[in-house]
Amino acid sequence: MVPTQIVILGGTGDLSKRKLIPALLDLFARELLPNTVQIIGLARSPWGREEYQSFVKDSLQEYHATHEHSDETLEKFCARLNYVSGSFHDKTSYDRLKNCLEEFDREEGAHSNRLFYLAVPPRFYADIFSDLKSTGTANEGESAWTHILVEKPFGHDLKTAQALDSQLASLYREDQIFRIDHYLAKEAVQNILSFRFANTLLQAPWSNESIESVHIKMFETKDVGSRAGFYEGVGALRDVGQNHLLQLVALIAMTQPESFAAEEIRSKRAEVLAALEPIDKDRLQTHVLRAQYEGYTGLEDVSDTSYTETYFELKTELDLPHWSGVPFFIQAGKALGKDEVSITITFKDVASGLFETKSCFSVGNQITLTISPEQTTTVTLNTKSPGLGYQLESQTLSLPGTVAGPKEIKNSYEKVLFDSIVGDHTLFTRTEEIIAAWKFITPILDNWHTLQLHTYTKGSAGPKQTIL
Ligand code: BG6
Repeated sequence: MVPTQIVILGGTGDLSKRKLIPALLDLFARELLPNTVQIIGLARSPWGREEYQSFVKDSLQEYHATHEHSDETLEKFCARLNYVSGSFHDKTSYDRLKNCLEEFDREEGAHSNRLFYLAVPPRFYADIFSDLKSTGTANEGESAWTHILVEKPFGHDLKTAQALDSQLASLYREDQIFRIDHYLAKEAVQNILSFRFANTLLQAPWSNESIESVHIKMFETKDVGSRAGFYEGVGALRDVGQNHLLQLVALIAMTQPESFAAEEIRSKRAEVLAALEPIDKDRLQTHVLRAQYEGYTGLEDVSDTSYTETYFELKTELDLPHWSGVPFFIQAGKALGKDEVSITITFKDVASGLFETKSCFSVGNQITLTISPEQTTTVTLNTKSPGLGYQLESQTLSLPGTVAGPKEIKNSYEKVLFDSIVGDHTLFTRTEEIIAAWKFITPILDNWHTLQLHTYTKGSAGPKQTIL
């Protein structure tokens, strides 16, 4: 077996502490990491291996309370960790990293597989891509691969995404590149395809013939907190709109793939993203809203006059015959009163024809797929209200999602890391998807300044104004 080295660039950052390190420990404990593996954190702190090991232990203590692992497992995991101190601007950091990788290769007597995870702000991507290549750090061995994992947002707008993409294509093969959208790796998000394509009941009406609207929400109680340095100038639309939420639109609207082959699924998602109706300047005021929570401008790293949105709403349609006329409402915000990520599909109210609904209560059927905090599915149906006559009433069936058990993957980064090690691209976005998403988002961003920035109180339901 070829040994494997996983390098986390930004190994002490928020993403590493909260998600990547816990995911690696869980994979290790379940024997799903390669047998011979070294994990290297690269960050600015002037530490050695032991200091990084204690940092990892502390982070696990803080962010990994839900999973129990024995002290022995934890020690074995920490023994696989190594650390290189350096900054991304400094070429000598890559020399130190290369030495560290080569030393392990010498010990193991083989050129290892190498996985580079860019858990760093997107402004560093371009330099890292080329420095990894030019210093030979990302060179592949004869029977060993190098994979590059890039976090979203990939670019800052259409132009920068295209530039980044051509740079990547000039340095690495497409099969080496894994563009992450961890929403695609969530159990509940993967379940959208099983829900839609494994239930005959849902096949026929899944189009504008029966669907009235789709409403996608991502409400977070978390505020920007210590991530202001990353968030400022990025904002909610780039942070979660351009990627996670448009990917949910893609999964809801895509046509049935012929197989679960990566290229098939990625093409189906890309078809939908390319069909997003652009929101031009004239429709901006009625189709997009942005807001910022009160107190955001008081954060460190945020300017007093910041216009970065922490909340947005948008309304769009798809230029596809079977979806024409169906509005997709997308709404996301930080520091809100509740945590909820969900998709609600509202069906047309067919009941009104036959039933005398003027005098009774009826709603169109609704399906809500809740992704978090817990995975659930609810279906609202009209049924006869007991009593004389044909009055209707709504009943809601609620199905729990996955039954928690040893196989359950709570942290989608486990799946991200596992798939990138085994080389499965299905849950990673292809360049066409990213470019199509930016083509839709960039004109909105270009005209952001013409939109009023509303405000809302932390812990509330968002701004008083709405366009939905
Ligand atoms: C990240 C965003 O991609 O997703 C964060 O950068 C957001 O701002 C997070 O909080 C939400 O992910 P999850 O898995 O906690 O729903």
